[in-house]
Amino acid sequence: MAKLLHLTCSPRTESESSAGARVFLDGFSQARPDWDIDVVDIWRERMPEFTGPIIEAKYARLKAETFTEAQRDSFAEAERMALRFSLADRVLISTPMWNFGLPYKLKQWFDIIVQPGLTFRFDPSQGYLPLLQDRPTLVIIASGSDFATGMNRGRIDMATPYLREILRFIGISNVRFVLIGPTTGPQQPIDAARERTHRRLAAMAATF
Ligand SMILES: Cc1cc2nc3c(=O)[nH]c(=O)nc-3n(C[C@H](O)[C@H](O)[C@H](O)COP(=O)(O)O)c2cc1C
Repeated sequence: MAKLLHLTCSPRTESESSAGARVFLDGFSQARPDWDIDVVDIWRERMPEFTGPIIEAKYARLKAETFTEAQRDSFAEAERMALRFSLADRVLISTPMWNFGLPYKLKQWFDIIVQPGLTFRFDPSQGYLPLLQDRPTLVIIASGSDFATGMNRGRIDMATPYLREILRFIGISNVRFVLIGPTTGPQQPIDAARERTHRRLAAMAATF
């Protein structure tokens, strides 16, 4: 069965990124009722802390050394997570912007799955090469500031360039970004931004 993987990354019940994702998924499920939606809640997902055997496993791989038993076991966690991702035909990431970038749990998820021989490889003559197949991917980012019209009040968006680059690094280049903001401050611009992006997400869902 064809599958969309949804990485949901806000811990808030009133989350704007999650609300946007719901609008998109409603439309998507109507357009493709036979698709499976696999939800990875980054705050509930079992993820190893990136210390001890899992980081040693990364360096062992980089040096082409054999794994210890503990390294093999912890690397299996990375393989499990990367496999779940690689089996998806479409990907949706909905995330808050936190301190210009990503919530640390989403960064942890990338730190675990971005591994040599798993999602990228290094070739001495060609440099870094991705190992995943490209697939349509949508990233929804909610931010207090408004990065669509530039009312960002002196803050910058490092979440979009980071996600574009880390996804490209592992093979995912077909990525569209939808930014929801402002989500804080006066109510009228918040409502207007929500309405505008929800309309856009509903329209995108039909052809994604
Ligand atoms: C820890 C933290 C850091 C934040 N940093 C930023 C920031 O750098 N830029 C910004 O525009 N908004 C920032 N915000 C506001 C959130 O991006 C905003 O509330 C957004 O709606 C959160 O997404 P969510 O509604 O899906 O949880 C921050 C919020 C929190 C809790």
